[in-house]
Amino acid sequence: MSSKKITEKKKEKTEGEEKFVGEELRPSKWDDYIGQKAIKENLRILLQAAEERGVPPEHILFYGPPGLGKTTLAHLISKTTGRAMKITSGPALEKVGDLASILTNLTPGDILFIDEIHRLNKTIEEVLYPAMESGSLDIIIGKGPSARTIQLELPPFTLLAATTRVAMISSPLRSRFSGGVFRLEFYTDEEIEKIIKRSAKILGVETDGTAEKEISKRSRFTPRTANYFLKRARDYAQVHKKTLDKETVEESLKLLGIDDIGLSPSDRKLLETMAHKFNGGPVGLGTLAAALSEEEATIEEFNEPYLIQMGMIERTPRGRTLSETAYHHLGLKLPKNLQRKLL
Ligand code: ADE
Repeated sequence: MSSKKITEKKKEKTEGEEKFVGEELRPSKWDDYIGQKAIKENLRILLQAAEERGVPPEHILFYGPPGLGKTTLAHLISKTTGRAMKITSGPALEKVGDLASILTNLTPGDILFIDEIHRLNKTIEEVLYPAMESGSLDIIIGKGPSARTIQLELPPFTLLAATTRVAMISSPLRSRFSGGVFRLEFYTDEEIEKIIKRSAKILGVETDGTAEKEISKRSRFTPRTANYFLKRARDYAQVHKKTLDKETVEESLKLLGIDDIGLSPSDRKLLETMAHKFNGGPVGLGTLAAALSEEEATIEEFNEPYLIQMGMIERTPRGRTLSETAYHHLGLKLPKNLQRKLL
């Protein structure tokens, strides 16, 4: 099997060894994982109960917009339970044999993490059902009348999975996550500031308190974005020999095209297209995607969650509509139909 399909968790790194980019900021203790209080509490009970009974934790699905810490939670579960984790993803599993080989090579009690599980193909998904439910692998050998099924018993394992598109997960698959289906929420400004402070400390950058607030304001309530902006602002401060303060953050993020509420050039293009080409909507996702030369999934996964959270756009049965807030943010005059509605 190609090494692309599965990544074994590496053993602890020795001091001084470079970590993968991004990995250095990943919390390795529950106390360092900020926010998502309800999920953490549920997981604590689930993991402790399984440990006390001496069985692997049940299968768990995490869902929510990108960058909220789904993979981070999987790593934390692996680290804190001392269970090795094999990592793969929906699109990496091309054939039933890929999944069969991973499952049969697990050591009893291991965790299998499948990222982007919504992209798993149907045939493979159906092989996963009995594996999740009764720890058995049903494999069809041969074709036509001579085809027969053999059943292999698998080592006990825990499946952790993550998706940004929970609606694309079939209900038979969803119902087999007997440990729970958890939705990650956007973070509060205070939580994001805490995450930035912790990351700055790990990166060894000095901040003055105003920098964290400025980064947080633009972070889309998302830790991954916050950490990315922190690193870019650090680079900018280093190259310009400046301290990392409010002004440096403003300058560095402006250079990246990020505005004062964290909208990217692609977000603004989407809003402007809705305003100028579709008179504020309603406009269907397909039409909007075609007008932007963008994939529908990209708009749904990357642009819309934050734009909806900020009240910039609304999803209605007739399509997407632009809100009054969006017109104000873009500095555009409200169209006549919206003005009348407000009177
Ligand atoms: N990185 C990603 N998610 C995080 C969280 N919730 N707390 C701290 N660091 C994180």
